[in-house]
Amino acid sequence: MTKITAAITAVGGYVPETKLTNFDLEKMVDTNDEWIRSRTGISERSILKEPGKGSSDMAVPAIEEILRKKNLDPKEIDCIICATVTPDMVFPATANIIADKIGATNAWGYDLSAACSGFLFALSTGAMYIESGRYKKVLVVGVDKMSAIVDYTDRTTCIIFGDGAGAVLLEPSTDGLGIQDSILRSDGSGRHYLHMKAGGSVKPATAETVAAREHFAYQEGQAVFKFAVKGMADVSAELLERNNLTGDDIAWLVPHQANLRIIDATANRMGLAKEKVMINIQKYGNTTAATLPLCLWDWENQLNKGDKIVLAAFGGGFTWGATLLTWAY
Ligand code: UT7
Repeated sequence: MTKITAAITAVGGYVPETKLTNFDLEKMVDTNDEWIRSRTGISERSILKEPGKGSSDMAVPAIEEILRKKNLDPKEIDCIICATVTPDMVFPATANIIADKIGATNAWGYDLSAACSGFLFALSTGAMYIESGRYKKVLVVGVDKMSAIVDYTDRTTCIIFGDGAGAVLLEPSTDGLGIQDSILRSDGSGRHYLHMKAGGSVKPATAETVAAREHFAYQEGQAVFKFAVKGMADVSAELLERNNLTGDDIAWLVPHQANLRIIDATANRMGLAKEKVMINIQKYGNTTAATLPLCLWDWENQLNKGDKIVLAAFGGGFTWGATLLTWAY
């Protein structure tokens, strides 16, 4: 029997029009453009400003772009996996809301929570549904409205995050294209460094938790930075090694966009020239689960069938990993 692999056959993306620049942030907290750019590489990020709009409102246009490009009837979609830490609401899953909004009435789906590694974990999960032969069209979307959980009085975290959505369509390939290998990791002992203190079952929302600003993302930046540099570089190097590849064989590195210094460290460890590294952190900031598909979206026209691509991420949990794929179109 011919082996089925899971190929990305279309990409869509969406970023809100409203921009929050470093100069805007200078007026909100004690920071400056020079510090933000030199420490993170970020100049501006997009913010979903309209009241009453949530993550699904960014995921829907990203997916609709895919439906248009592929001339697909939404009823053909089998499954939607939505990677997010900023769901529209605690339940039901944002994937269900997205399915309703796009008319994917034959699809089942769920949300996957792995913070900045969410898209990578969801991609791997979706790929297995395709590889099994059970499903033919799986949508994987990474979306986060970080502005909903960012404390704009905390200068150490508010400067890095932005809002956005990216999505890919996975379909079967019998030519060996698509997802080749993944190394995925998690370590819950890292939860103390990056999390939301209240609003879950351990500490439900009260007037006190709101007053103590515990419903925002809390991050110990330096600690996360150290784990991220090592975690992302280690798995990326391990992935190359176990597939007998070197940096020369790789057309593109698609790294999570959290900090330019973490991206540089990963690329150096893989022996990759800077021209092969997708970097759009300057205009979007860290959009959590959306960073990887937004890179694919921005670079789609430069990708060629057969290109070997490594995607790598690190995030809250801790969660991290790397995936090797062969571009299919
Ligand atoms: O995506 C999910 C995973 N997240 C990450 O990967 C993020 C990892 N962490 C980071 O990217 C960095 O740690 C940050 C960008 C968050 C912070 O950069 P840093 O180089 O680690 O700064 P720091 O926390 O070590 O602070 C250095 C100095 C401190 O001042 P002193 O103590 O040296 O006087 C901070 O108070 O910079 C100060 N500082 C700022 N100054 C101006 C912290 N934030 C700011 C700011 N503007 N926004």
